[in-house]
Amino acid sequence: MPELLRVGVLASGRGSNFEALAKAIESGGVPAVMAVLVSDRATAPALEIARAHGIEALFVDPKQYPSREAHEKAIMAALDERGVGLVCQAGYMRILGPAYIEHFRGRALNIHPSLLPAFPGLHAQRQALEHGAKVTGATVHFADEGVDTGPIVLQAAVPVLPDDTEETLSRRVLEVEHRIFPEAVRLFAEGRLALDGRRVHIRERA
Ligand code: GRF
Repeated sequence: MPELLRVGVLASGRGSNFEALAKAIESGGVPAVMAVLVSDRATAPALEIARAHGIEALFVDPKQYPSREAHEKAIMAALDERGVGLVCQAGYMRILGPAYIEHFRGRALNIHPSLLPAFPGLHAQRQALEHGAKVTGATVHFADEGVDTGPIVLQAAVPVLPDDTEETLSRRVLEVEHRIFPEAVRLFAEGRLALDGRRVHIRERA
C-alpha cells in the first residue's frame, strides 16, 4: 500500500471548510490523513474544531516573528515536519509570499467564494451582489503568486436570487464550497490532477 497523502489546512477563522475536509477524510471519502490545522489567530474557531476531531491544532503567532517572511517560514517548517503533501488554504486571511508559493507549487489548494476570475479578493459575495450578477459560486484553485489567480481545479455555480443579502448568498455559496473542496482534495489524493499551464486536467480513475 502506498502511504496516504498527509493534508495540512491553514485557516484564520470559522473553519467550516476545514471541518468539511476533516469529515470527508474521517468518513473514508478522501484517501488521506488530516495531519494538522494551522492558524494565525489564537481565537480562530477552526482550532477548536480541530481539537474536537482529534486533529493537531497549531497556532503560529505572527507576533512572535520579526517579519511576515519569518512567520511564513515557521508555518512551512511545521507543515514539512508533519510530512504534509497537500496544503489546503481554507479561509487563511494572510497573503502567502513567494517562498511558500514556490515550496508548495502544485501542492497547495485555495477555496474562493466566487466563480473566478470574477470577484477575486475580499467580500466576493458582496462584489457579486453589487455587480448585479445572476450567478456566482465557488472555486478551488492551486495557489500561485497572485490573489485568487491560480489554475482552476473545480467550480460550482449558485444562483443569485433577487432578495439575496450578503448573508443568504454566502450561505448558499458555502454549501457548494463544502462539496467541491473535499472533492478537489480527493482528486489530488488519487493522483488525478494534472497541471498544464493555467489548465488543470482531471484524469479518469485508473
Ligand atoms: C470561505 O467563504 C472561503 O471561500 C473563503 O473564506 C471563507 C472561510 O470560511 N476563502 P470557513 O472559515 O471555511 O467557514
